[in-house]
This record gives sequence, structure tokens and C-alpha cells, in this order.
Amino acid sequence: MDVSSSVFDRVIDRSEMSSDKWAKYPEQVIPMWVADMDFDAPECIKTALKERVEQGVFGYTHTPKALVLAIQNHLKSRYDWSVSGGDLVHLPGLVCALHLSVQIFSEKGDGIVVPGPVYYHLTKAPELAGRELHKVDMVLQNDRWLPDMQAFEAACAKQNSKMVLLCNPHNPGGTVFRRKELLAIHSIAEKYDLLVVSDEIHCDLILENLPHVPFASLNEDVAQRTITLMAPSKTFNIAGLGYAFAVIENAKLRQTFKQARAGLVASPNMLGLTAAISAYEDGQQWHQSLLEYLRQNRDYLAQRLANTPLKMSSLEGTYLAWIDASALSVEDPYEFFLNAGVGVSSGKDFGNASFVRLNFGCPKSVLEQALNRIEAALKNVV
Ligand SMILES: Cc1ncc(COP(=O)(O)O)c(C=O)c1O
Repeated sequence: MDVSSSVFDRVIDRSEMSSDKWAKYPEQVIPMWVADMDFDAPECIKTALKERVEQGVFGYTHTPKALVLAIQNHLKSRYDWSVSGGDLVHLPGLVCALHLSVQIFSEKGDGIVVPGPVYYHLTKAPELAGRELHKVDMVLQNDRWLPDMQAFEAACAKQNSKMVLLCNPHNPGGTVFRRKELLAIHSIAEKYDLLVVSDEIHCDLILENLPHVPFASLNEDVAQRTITLMAPSKTFNIAGLGYAFAVIENAKLRQTFKQARAGLVASPNMLGLTAAISAYEDGQQWHQSLLEYLRQNRDYLAQRLANTPLKMSSLEGTYLAWIDASALSVEDPYEFFLNAGVGVSSGKDFGNASFVRLNFGCPKSVLEQALNRIEAALKNVV
């Protein structure tokens, strides 16, 4: 059954849902910050959740075999990646796995290489753990944000470097890394014998006709030095249900990770497990329609911004636009957007305060209203 775009057009009042996104700003501000969409979850997920809730008993729950199979099928059919069920580690979220990986696979004073600007937990994890952050600038190449590979090699070559944290597809740059770009990253990681933690949470939100290439799927050496982090939460808008997973093919790394998480990182939420099975087994139609809707929103946003001093580079994946506001004669672009009535994320959170990140995972009418506000405000500053 086709999912009509009207499903995504519907404006949903989230004010009574304890939504982080909608609680942050006063009522008159349109919130377009945290990576959470304003769409209903797919019907199949809602039905699966209702059925599970109807069972009425909510005791401790282990990961059902059906979920392991659903993930394996998903990884195989979408990325041609065969993963053994035993290599999966089920988690209540992805961020805890990022922090845990840094803490257990490096020591105080070790260097962690992170291409950025990037989702702030990739830099926060090394900082909070007392590691030395080796930031590598992402630069625009043919309108795509990519790591400066010379700087990347120089950072990896530093004596204390132990690990690389990657984000693919990239948040906030929107880059979907090509196989050859990942191979170039791998050859440097291999040369300096570094572990790689690859945050691939946005892997099913590719808006161009491009494949997602899981870093660990490149070859056997990569598989042995990589921890892959994925989740259905961004794609199916179910972040509040708390489910993510890691793929750790190296048995020693996996065992160390599992030992370290024991007693500290809880098992996933039972409803998260239920939703994840349904998402991967039955969510394809909804997913395809979502991508089409997001593509149209992205194109509409790009077309409206093209007539302004705000610059948006090509966005291959995610529903998060990384917007260069440096041409505006304003002190703080984030405040400028906020005063216009649009609550974006400040670029400062990711490493560049001249930018803002705008979440267009919302009904087109809401995006249109936000763009009208931004355009009106621009008339006063340029
Ligand atoms: C790149 C990236 N990783 C991780 C997360 C959050 O993951 P979780 O909610 O599973 O902890 C986000 C959320 O925006 C993200 O963009």
C-alpha cells in the first residue's frame, strides 16, 4: 500500500507530548533544531506497539530473535553487508556507545581524530574522557563537505592517536561518503593502526541515488578495526523509544565492549525492540515515501535560499541543512534566526558559529512559514 504524502503534510500538535524539540522555545517560535521529525511514526509501528501494550505485562525483556533477523536482512538487502547475529550488540541509544567506546578503547591523554564540524557528541566524548581531541577540518570540495585528507593523515600520524570517530552520512554536512573516500580513510587508519568508531545513524536517510557503504563492510581489515553504530530511530522517528545497535565483528573488541557496558548501559527498552522489528520488517513503503517528501523539502529549501545570502551546499543525506550565514551582517546567526521566529541549532554546537543547522523534517507548510519569516528578517539586515 502506498503511503500518501498527506501523512507528512499533517501538522501535529506536539505541545502535550513532552517533546524536547517543542519545549525548548516559546510557542511562537518554530522549532527546527534537534534531529527529530514532526511526523507520525509509520502505521505498522503504531500497530505493533499497540499489540505489545495490549499484552499488558512489561517485565525484563531480551532481544527477540526476530529483531536479529530483521537487522541482518536489512543490512544485507540495503548495503549487501552480511553480519552474523552474534556480532550485534543491542543498546538503548547510540550516544552512550560513542562515549563508552572512547573510554574503553583509549586511555587518558590518547589522541582521538575527529573530522568536523560534526554532531557534538563525537567531540564531547573525547573531551569528557580527558582524551586529546585532534580535530580535522571538513572542507568544501565540489560542493560537498569532506575531511581535508592531508590534515587527516597528519592527525592520525600523531604519536598519541588511537582512534578515529567518523559520522557517515555526515551530520551536519549532509555528505554521503563514497566507497573510494572511505577506502582512503581506511588506508590511513590501517597505516597508523587506529580503531574506527563509525556513527551511521543517518544511513537510511539518503536523498540522492547513492548507496550507503557501511565503513566496516569495505574489507576484512576494516571489519576488524571498526565499531559500527546504527539505529532505526532517526529514519522512523522513534528516538524516544530508545533502541540502537552496534556491529562489532572483532571478537576481542566486542567482548571488551560487552564487559564494560555490563551494569552500566541498560538493555534496550522493550517497546524500542518491538518498534525496531516492525520498522525493519514492514516500514519500507513508509520509508520510501518519507525520502521522497524530504527530497522535496530539501529542494524547496535550497531553491528559496538560493535567492538569499544564506548558502547551503549540496545535501546528499539527512534532513539537516548546514547553512552558511557568514555573509550576513549579524553578530550571531543563531540569534538572528531566533529573533525571526525560527529556532535552529547554532553552528557553534558543531564547531562553527557562522553556520546554523536547520531541520526540515516537518510538513512543507511549516517549512514554508519558517522560510517566509527568515526572508522577512533578511530584508532588515542585508
Ligand atoms: C550523528 C548522530 N549520532 C547519534 C545521535 C543520537 O543517537 P541516540 O539518540 O541513539 O543516542 C544523533 C542525534 O541527532 C546523531 O545525529
